[in-house]
Amino acid sequence: MLNKIKETALEAARIAGEVLREGYGKNIKINSKSAINDLVTEYDVKAENAIMSYISSVFPDSSFLCEESGKSNAGGAIRWIIDPLDGTVNYAHKVPIFSVSIAAEVNSELVVGVIYQPMLDEMFWAVRGEGAYWNEQKINISQCDDMMRAYLVTGFPYNVSENPENCAEVFVSIIQRGIPVRRLGSAALDLAYVAAGRFDGFWETDLNPWDVAAGVLLVEEAGGKVSAFDKSPYHLGDRTILATNGLIHDVASQIITSCNIKK
Ligand code: IPD
Ligand code: CA
Ligand code: CA
Repeated sequence: MLNKIKETALEAARIAGEVLREGYGKNIKINSKSAINDLVTEYDVKAENAIMSYISSVFPDSSFLCEESGKSNAGGAIRWIIDPLDGTVNYAHKVPIFSVSIAAEVNSELVVGVIYQPMLDEMFWAVRGEGAYWNEQKINISQCDDMMRAYLVTGFPYNVSENPENCAEVFVSIIQRGIPVRRLGSAALDLAYVAAGRFDGFWETDLNPWDVAAGVLLVEEAGGKVSAFDKSPYHLGDRTILATNGLIHDVASQIITSCNIKK
């Protein structure tokens, strides 16, 4: 069963990747959602429809939590948590950094996570208890145990100016220490890169379950640690997320929470 779920998620991600490659670089329809820069393109919707229709054909008894179409068919044996295009702002601006994120939950437990980068044909995937992989190769988190030598990645919510988590202050506090931080624009890829040991840590606020579900399983299966900023256990939908190689987790949490005082 787990193998079939994994194969289905991988194939669905490949199908969506094909859809996204087809639209990439073209003049496509783009609209705003919650904020002027929170975008959705016609290809977000096309990719999501392609994923849902493929998964439903293999597992008709599925529930879905998808970014564009929301919840459907409550009570299915498998719940699929899907972001068909993570990095829409990049995609809309013809920047080739974006991903497809698909996770599967059984009995409320994440069992499979797949993150696909269509432009590089990189497939990151994990199965609970079986490790994390980049294409066919097993991946592990990095070994960096010194925050000052860490290479980090983050992102910002669309409501950054009103957001109560002091995102800008946290960011400044880290870069002022001279620690290199990147902002790729796809939280799912950020997490996949932490799992693959490319980055040592990632933090962000106000992500949705579809941004992180697959990535959380990838980081955990690669040997990393995922929590809220204050190190309390992370649950999908929590306001803050900190995912690291485990070795820098305490220091990262301490720096973030020390300037994360609510206004
Ligand atoms: C966004 C990306 C981005 C993150 C935003 C997300 P979307 O997802 O993951 O990196 O900073 O908070 O909303 O809108 O491109 O699917
Ligand atoms: Ca997203
Ligand atoms: Ca999206």
